Amino acid sequence: MTMTPFPVAQKKPQLLRLHHQDDEASRVELATGLLAEVSSIAPKFLYDALGSRLFAAITELPEYYPTRTEAAIFTTHKAAMAAAIGTGRTLVDLGAGNCEKAANLFDALMPARYVAVDISADYLSDALDFLQFRHPAMDLLGIGIDFSTTFTLPPQADIEDCVVFYPGSSIGNFTPVQAEVFLRQIRAAAKGGGLLIGVDLVKPVSVLEPAYDDALGVTAAFNRNMLTISNRLLDADFNVSDFRHIACFNSRESRIEMHLEALREVTVCWPDVNGASTGKSGRVFHAGERIHTENSYKYTLDHFATLLHVAGYTKIRYWTDPNDWFAVFWADH
Ligand code: TRP
Repeated sequence: MTMTPFPVAQKKPQLLRLHHQDDEASRVELATGLLAEVSSIAPKFLYDALGSRLFAAITELPEYYPTRTEAAIFTTHKAAMAAAIGTGRTLVDLGAGNCEKAANLFDALMPARYVAVDISADYLSDALDFLQFRHPAMDLLGIGIDFSTTFTLPPQADIEDCVVFYPGSSIGNFTPVQAEVFLRQIRAAAKGGGLLIGVDLVKPVSVLEPAYDDALGVTAAFNRNMLTISNRLLDADFNVSDFRHIACFNSRESRIEMHLEALREVTVCWPDVNGASTGKSGRVFHAGERIHTENSYKYTLDHFATLLHVAGYTKIRYWTDPNDWFAVFWADH
């Protein structure tokens, strides 16, 4: 064995921090949602430190099929996916978190470059250091950015002709109209590239509803934690025990809806928020009144293929599990 005469410089993942938390904007957003005729809290307020851990726990629940079903599709069809996609490309991971889902594909896709995108660059940092240790030759870039409203990445991301990876059926948390806009933006940004995307499918309500309302009550805790988060960010005085978690399938809209329902009449107060121009600083919730917290749209294979087509993709294929509960689509060109 020959030794290298000079120490080889260790590659380092690059990090770009482009998202900065704006507490005043959060307060305005929370107050505006709560005071609307149909009260709501935006789903992004689900994920504080506790909320993120509760969601991780949800993915372990027997009732919550999406995470493990999607993982099984990747395990079973990884080689076929790599044959369709090709190797040595740039992989852009949207909502990368701990980067685990993408890392599981590295042996098949063998990307030359990996761009992890998430709202929190801090969260990406440790995961990317670990990945660099395991893949010393790979170019790694982490971008902390909020892509939920418009999909734009800085020029350094250099994602032309890349493979965009968007797993977990997060696309289902947009309305179909928003999803189409988002897919179109991805396609434009990744000029000539493709999209590998996880999509949850329509299935019997007896499977769908328990996935969002489990017997242990972890999902209820996850949803109700939003009230604790609102108390902290808005200085509101919600009593968590005044509200119950509701998850119901709206078949007309083909979506699971999450709500928090007042068990009795409650008055919630918070200090006036500058810029909300509401003049109010609180709200009465009547017994049975609901706060809408999230939607999770469920697609048919045909409906989602059409959505990809309308967004501009011309080559579309997909892989599913034996029950057709979940699909992974590869959309190209
Ligand atoms: N994106 C996840 C989904 O739609 C989020 C989620 C799972 C969720 N369970 C929830 C959101 C309960 C609110 C309440 O599957």
